[in-house]
Amino acid sequence: MPTLPPGFVLGVATSAYQVEGATAEDGRGPCIWDTFSHQAGRIVDGSTGDVAADHYHRVPEDVGLLQRLGVGGYRFSVSWSRVLPTGRGPVNAAGLDFYDRMVDRLLEAGISPMATLYQSDLPQHLEDDGGWLNPATAHAFAEYAAVVGERLSDRVESWVPINEPNVGAMLGYGLGTQAPGYALHFDALHVCHQMLLAHGHGATALRSVGARSVGCANNHAPIWPSSEDPADVGASKLFDSLWNGLFIEPMLLGRYPTDLEPLVEELVQPGDLAAIRVPLDFYGVNYYSPIRIAAAPQDAPMPFEVHELLGYDRTDRGWTIVPDALREWLITFRARFRAALPPIVVTESGAAFNGEPDADGVVDDQARIDYLDQHLRAIAKAVERGVDVRGYYVWSLLDSFEWTEGLSQRYGLVHVDFDTQTRTPKRSFDWYAALIAAQSRSI
Ligand code: NOJ
Repeated sequence: MPTLPPGFVLGVATSAYQVEGATAEDGRGPCIWDTFSHQAGRIVDGSTGDVAADHYHRVPEDVGLLQRLGVGGYRFSVSWSRVLPTGRGPVNAAGLDFYDRMVDRLLEAGISPMATLYQSDLPQHLEDDGGWLNPATAHAFAEYAAVVGERLSDRVESWVPINEPNVGAMLGYGLGTQAPGYALHFDALHVCHQMLLAHGHGATALRSVGARSVGCANNHAPIWPSSEDPADVGASKLFDSLWNGLFIEPMLLGRYPTDLEPLVEELVQPGDLAAIRVPLDFYGVNYYSPIRIAAAPQDAPMPFEVHELLGYDRTDRGWTIVPDALREWLITFRARFRAALPPIVVTESGAAFNGEPDADGVVDDQARIDYLDQHLRAIAKAVERGVDVRGYYVWSLLDSFEWTEGLSQRYGLVHVDFDTQTRTPKRSFDWYAALIAAQSRSI
């Protein structure tokens, strides 16, 4: 088993729209994924998050699973439109109470809560007013952050304002493959800037109501050129600035990557960069795979294209498995940002392996065990090289609604039968529980 430093937190993560269901209950307002998933052809298997893993009705059972696993931390997300059904204005007491009760249960079970305030589920009412293209949304987000922080910051240990702003902006507004479905190409930089402002304003609002530890959860992928051809190398550098630098540099250094400055200069108002660069208590990294980039043909809408990365094992979703790229990325990240970098937490890492229970009810997901083992070993090696990594959250506790992949990709340590909502811990669940037990004995 991988050896991790004392005090290293082993946890699991989920997100509201992906697990909760109950999308029209107890006063919850609609969000952009309700709208998007109900549009024909958007989700591969035609499913929606209407029921998902029915977590809204099964918190006691699911916290029981967390307790059995023995995790130190549970990262969940709060549904903005459950708390503020139209995104602003009156609080829906039943919505906020749901999270309040869940946090109490977690604490009773000895589990430290990490709350994410936004994981892709913008209230539809705000979208109708322009969504992330409207600068008012970043301010609405800060109001929402203050409402949730006011209620929970006495008990929630750590906070993530916005999960993966790069994915939300680029896929939701740049390419249109995720909600709300706009293909604005480089004009999506406007959304990136607004999400960065929301991160800054949200973090400041959380601190003002007493939040102790505030960080982020940014998706990072090592970007590899498809060849040594200068055109491919140039395209991959630009893509690296867009995917990685665009979010790291403003958050940690208070500036945009130099090559993107001409593209964003008209968007940045005086004071914006200072508002974005707020001190962070931890830097959260969501890591899945490297991305291989080539230059696109002259007449393509974007100057780069994604090429298949050959020569590696893959998850059932087809994503390449390259744990060593995480080790290398962490070491390079630290070398580049040094004093500007707070302790790192791997806020998501995991894989889709879609096995079903066998005749004995066993889900033998050895491939997930190998995946987690290899990624934790990669982290342990980065720690040996001096990188300060404090925790690891497996994506995910449960099989859940995997955005455009619907219910077809299973990331859980726990299998969910979406017809009956029966939960079956997989072999990876037992493996992770044993690792956690060994880790707590080593302290
Ligand atoms: C990262 C996202 O935060 C999460 O919502 C998603 O399910 C996983 N990646 C897997 O794609």
